[in-house]
Amino acid sequence: EIICYLEKLNTLAAQLQEEFSLEQVIIVPGDSSRDIYAKKDIGRAAARCLKESLYDGCRVAVTGGTTLAEVAHSMSGVVTARDVLVVPARGGLGGEVEEQANVVAARIAKAIGAEYRLLHLPDNLEESLLESLKKDARIKEVVELVKSCNILVHGIGVALEMAARRGLSPEGLQVLEERGAVGEVLRYYFNREGQIVYSQPGIGIEFEDMGGLKKVIAVAGGSNKAEAIAAVLRNHRRGVLVTDEGAARKILQKG
Ligand code: G3H
Repeated sequence: EIICYLEKLNTLAAQLQEEFSLEQVIIVPGDSSRDIYAKKDIGRAAARCLKESLYDGCRVAVTGGTTLAEVAHSMSGVVTARDVLVVPARGGLGGEVEEQANVVAARIAKAIGAEYRLLHLPDNLEESLLESLKKDARIKEVVELVKSCNILVHGIGVALEMAARRGLSPEGLQVLEERGAVGEVLRYYFNREGQIVYSQPGIGIEFEDMGGLKKVIAVAGGSNKAEAIAAVLRNHRRGVLVTDEGAARKILQKG
């Protein structure tokens, strides 16, 4: 029975892989929108995938969020790759400290004996202020490291939920609704067709930098995120997806 179930998950993974032209899809059992253990399993699976992707001298950028916090919690053990650097992909997301990209980056680095650098920037700064901060030598140095990353591990959020968490203005929220934003990654908001319809200003990896990455690992699950995940995947069409059965079934509309 267990073998049959695992085979079903493998079939779902193969279907998702084909539908979105992905490099690899990993599906854990359960639905993290209802079950916290499913989210922990996603974290464990993504941590294993990241560890296997590391190589000497690689640079890893990570986003924040509760899912990435689980990835950080699950990172442990010996890593043979040397001179690994871990950085936050973009400036911080407010809210719980464990969910911030800086903390996720530091935790992952410490767990595997890697180096880390942090971006000490609050969320939601005025664009003019961001522009002057980008000129600061220390920030510039970290931003250059972030932009030179080879591996990106990112969460995917439901657009309006993420906008609220990031403190977007009521006008901004209205724009998102009007433009049909459903998914969010790195402050970029995507519609159902996978087009970027809005971007919140910030410092760090820009969408254009994603083309230069060797590996992109998207980590997100839960049937509530199905539409958001599909929207983002429609844009990317590459990389690895670590998700759960709840999201996978709903994306493929299988219940
Ligand atoms: O940046 C945040 C992620 O895109 C989604 O966050 O893992 O807490 O749902 P989450």
